[in-house]
Amino acid sequence: MKRRILNFGSLNIDHVYRVEHFVAPGETLAAISYQKNAGGKGLNQSVALARAGAPVCHAGQIGEDGRFLEKLLQEEGVDTANLAVTHQPTGHAIIQVEPGGQNCILVCAGANGSVPADYMEEVFSHFGADDWLLLQNEVAGLPTLLSLAKARGMRVILNPSPITDTLLAADLSAVDLFLLNETEGLALTGESEPQAILETLTARYPDAEIVLTLGADGAYWQSGGERCFCPARKVTAVDTTAAGDTFTGYFLACRMEGKGAQTSLGLSAKAAAIAVTRPGAAASIPRWKELLETTV
Ligand code: RIB
Repeated sequence: MKRRILNFGSLNIDHVYRVEHFVAPGETLAAISYQKNAGGKGLNQSVALARAGAPVCHAGQIGEDGRFLEKLLQEEGVDTANLAVTHQPTGHAIIQVEPGGQNCILVCAGANGSVPADYMEEVFSHFGADDWLLLQNEVAGLPTLLSLAKARGMRVILNPSPITDTLLAADLSAVDLFLLNETEGLALTGESEPQAILETLTARYPDAEIVLTLGADGAYWQSGGERCFCPARKVTAVDTTAAGDTFTGYFLACRMEGKGAQTSLGLSAKAAAIAVTRPGAAASIPRWKELLETTV
């Protein structure tokens, strides 16, 4: 059977408010506009993988109110056979976007927050050593997911976002590839300089590949003694939501196709640059054809 990526990840309903500035403590602020969008780091990354041409199966939980997220994944060609619909409400996010395109996000786990162990075991019974597992940290049960994947010999990719105490306490030695930003790098290593983050993570996980994204300052890839860098494309940001998810999905799709690290970084940076020029999370992610036809 062809290699697949199992993305065991969050699905959220994003409530997006455009604001003049982020709400300050004690302040009541009128929003400029409101939109309800498909989101969740997991869902966004599955959409990015699918739009980049990778075979992706999404597992995770929604409530009845999230059926439109399942439909969206199916329309994108994502395999949703392992998605569970529970009696809980779907996870949601409250997102403020300011005129410069920066955001701040409050996530409420909902159905993402209580994932039964027997459901996880059932999902993993359909995957084997040729397959890859992609995880973020918006779904409960990270340590169990890591050990189930390792028991089956799967390659494990972790985007450690958001950082939580559970994640910081977890044994991450099963991870084969980390994709993280500077904030997550600081939380994991105590270091703020990119070089120091890379060195500390490589010393701690010598067999793991690391991708460190720095927003407008580009992205690094490191594996053992090898390192490469790709500058970011200069664009005018409208909404940076899901830029990291776009990068993650494209990077994995490129690597799965056998592309080298430098080429994969370049294509992922371009995809993320396109995504920030338009509003929304999943909706902002470019398709492969568009990526090749667009100059940014
Ligand atoms: O990475 C962006 C995503 O983070 C949003 O879609 C929101 O749902 C949160 O999970």
